[in-house]
Amino acid sequence: MLFLQLASLAVLLSGSDNADVIQEHILFHVIQISSFANQSWAKIQGSGWLGELQTHGWDSESGTIIFLHTWSKSNFSNEEFMGLELLFRVYLIRLIQEIQDCASQLQFEYPFELQVTAGCELPSRNTTKSFLQVAYQGTDFLSFQNMSWVPSPEGEIRAQRVCDLINQYEGIKETVSKLIRNVCPRFALGLFDAGKMYLQRQVKPEAWLSGSPILGSSQLLLVCHVSGFYPKPIWVMWMRGEREQPGIQRGDVLPNVDGTWYLRVILNVEAEEAAGLFCQVRHSSLGDQDIILYWGKTSPFRELDPTGSDSTSNTSDGPCIMV
Ligand SMILES: *[C@@H]1O[C@H](CO)[C@@H](O)[C@H](O)[C@H]1NC(C)=O
Ligand SMILES: *[C@@H]1O[C@H](CO)[C@@H](O)[C@H](O)[C@H]1NC(C)=O
Ligand SMILES: *[C@@H]1O[C@H](CO)[C@@H](O)[C@H](O)[C@H]1NC(C)=O
Ligand SMILES: *[C@@H]1O[C@H](CO)[C@@H](O)[C@H](O)[C@H]1NC(C)=O
Ligand SMILES: *[C@@H]1O[C@H](CO)[C@@H](O)[C@H](O)[C@H]1NC(C)=O
Repeated sequence: MLFLQLASLAVLLSGSDNADVIQEHILFHVIQISSFANQSWAKIQGSGWLGELQTHGWDSESGTIIFLHTWSKSNFSNEEFMGLELLFRVYLIRLIQEIQDCASQLQFEYPFELQVTAGCELPSRNTTKSFLQVAYQGTDFLSFQNMSWVPSPEGEIRAQRVCDLINQYEGIKETVSKLIRNVCPRFALGLFDAGKMYLQRQVKPEAWLSGSPILGSSQLLLVCHVSGFYPKPIWVMWMRGEREQPGIQRGDVLPNVDGTWYLRVILNVEAEEAAGLFCQVRHSSLGDQDIILYWGKTSPFRELDPTGSDSTSNTSDGPCIMV
C-alpha cells in the first residue's frame, strides 16, 4: 500500500516536473496608440502580442476585442472577455475625454500621439515582471511602478503634473495593478498553452539568389533571399567550400504577412570570383538537410547581361530581383 502511494506520488511529481521543465520565456503585452488631431477628433488603435506575434486587435467602432487566432481566447470565458471589453471601452472613452479636456492645461499640443504599452513577462513559471509605460510623441513619458505613477525624466515637468493628478485615483491604480499583475500572467500562460501547437510549428524556408553588377565597379552584389520560415532563428551564410565569406551584410529578419519570416544576406564580390560561391541555409525545420544554392549554377550569369540578350533562360530561381 505504501509502495502504491509512493508510486502515485512519484507520478504526480514527475508530472509537475514535466510542466516545469518547459521553462518558457513568455511575454504578453498590449499596445494602445491614441492619436489626437484636434479638440474634437481622436483615433484609437489597440493590439495584443504574444512575443512578436500579434494575437489580438481592437475594433474601436464596436469597442470589442478581435481574436486573430483560434486560440487567442486563451482559457478565459466569454464572460471574462465581456468584462474586459467593458473595462477597456470605459477606460478609452474616459481617457479621450480627460485628455481633450486637460490638453491645454497639460500643454499637449495638437496633433499629438500617446502610446501605452502594458503587459507581463514570465521568464519562468514562478516569476512575473509586469509593466505599463506611456510615451508622448514617441518619447518616454511615465510608467506605473509599485502602485504609483512615476514620471520619466524625459517627460519633464509635464509628466510630473500628470502623475500628481492621476496618483490621486486609488481605484485606477488598483485596477491597473490587478490587470498587469494578476490577469495578465494568467492570460499569458493560458494563451501560451493554447497556442503551443501554432507557436511550435516548423515551416521550411524557400531560398533563392539574385545578383546585380555594382555600377562603376567590377563587383557584383549577390543576394541570398530566404523566406517563409518559422520559427525565427536561422543561419544563412555565403560560403566557398568550407569557408564562410567575410564581409557579408545580414539584413534584419523581417515578418511576412502570414507570420513567417524573411531574411536576406548580401555579399559584394569581384565578378570573376563569383563562381563557386554558394549560399547555405540552416534552419530547425530542415533538420540536417541544409539548403545549398550555388551562384551561377541555377542562376546563369547571363541574367546579369545588361543587354538582356538571352530571353530563353529557364531557371528554377525565379526572376533576378534588383536590389
Ligand atoms: C479635426 O481633425 C479631423 C481629422 O484630421 C478633421 O477632419 C476635422 O475637420 C478637424 N476638426 C476641427 C474642428 O479642426
Ligand atoms: C521558483 O520556485 C522554486 C520552487 O518553488 C524555487 O526554488 C525557485 O527559487 C523559484 N524561482 C524564482 C526565480 O523565484
Ligand atoms: C512597494 O511599495 C511598498 C509599500 O508602499 C513598499 O513596502 C515596497 O518596498 C515597495 N517596493 C519597491 C520595489 O519599491
Ligand atoms: C488559465 O491558465 C492559467 C495558466 O495555466 C491558470 O493560472 C488560470 O487559472 C487558468 N484559468 C483562468 C480562468 O485564468
Ligand atoms: C523550365 O524548366 C522546367 C524543368 O526543366 C520545365 O518543367 C518548365 O516547363 C520550363 N519552363 C519554361 C518556361 O521553359
